[in-house]
Amino acid sequence: MGDIINSDGRKIPEHVAIILDGNGRWAKKRFLPRNAGHVQGAANIEKVCTIARDMGIKYVTVYAFSTENWKRPSAEVEAIMKLLRQYLKDCRKKCKKNNMKVRVIGDISVLDEDFQNTIKDLVDYSKEHTGLNFTVALNYGSRDEIRRAFKEIMKEHDEGKISLDDIDEKLISDHLDTRELPDPDLVIRTSGEQRMSNYMMWQIAYSEFYFTDTLWPDFSKKDLEAAVDFYNKVDRRFGGIKS
Ligand code: FPP
Repeated sequence: MGDIINSDGRKIPEHVAIILDGNGRWAKKRFLPRNAGHVQGAANIEKVCTIARDMGIKYVTVYAFSTENWKRPSAEVEAIMKLLRQYLKDCRKKCKKNNMKVRVIGDISVLDEDFQNTIKDLVDYSKEHTGLNFTVALNYGSRDEIRRAFKEIMKEHDEGKISLDDIDEKLISDHLDTRELPDPDLVIRTSGEQRMSNYMMWQIAYSEFYFTDTLWPDFSKKDLEAAVDFYNKVDRRFGGIKS
């Protein structure tokens, strides 16, 4: 929506949402345990955020752990959670250095208190930062997000704070975890899979989708540029006609 035109005339999407896929396959190809792929994938997030920021992208949102990912073997779930916890702890220094603002979407109430506090402290610490808006989707699922929003809206209705006629698209958007974010302009999914896996289903109504065979740990500047080049070729009409 809020595209920026950079110095070489390229249209830069304001918000890029990424489905990080292929960590396991990246590890398998190298005869490494799956967790090595997640470690490499986590390290690549920082690199890609820096490249995105330098390109002029304002918001990057990554799908780190879905409400469905709990179905994975418990050792893998534990390893990803450990990695996420450490990553978000270390993120404070990176935030300071880069003036980055961090948000977390998803239901974090299921995490242990210490982990929840790490997240809340980080979000609070970076809330006035004006650099890249980096959002991590953690225990996130679009259907669950909408379910939680429904409950909140019903509660406000029952308490007499809103009437039925107040329920419009904006009110619904304002009750989602993404209420502070613009809708994604571009969604990237790596590793050759072409589905949305319960990722921001309300918010991506008019997003463009870019799929690449590159596995997430290998996703590089070249891949991000290819995604932005693809975005430049599409004609976004948001349901209207070309003027
Ligand atoms: C997808 O690859 C990856 C995940 C579901 C987990 C992503 C988690 C991280 C990169 C760890 C930390 C995240 C942050 C934000 C620090 P896959 O395991 O589905 O790969 P496969 O399809 O090749 O098996």
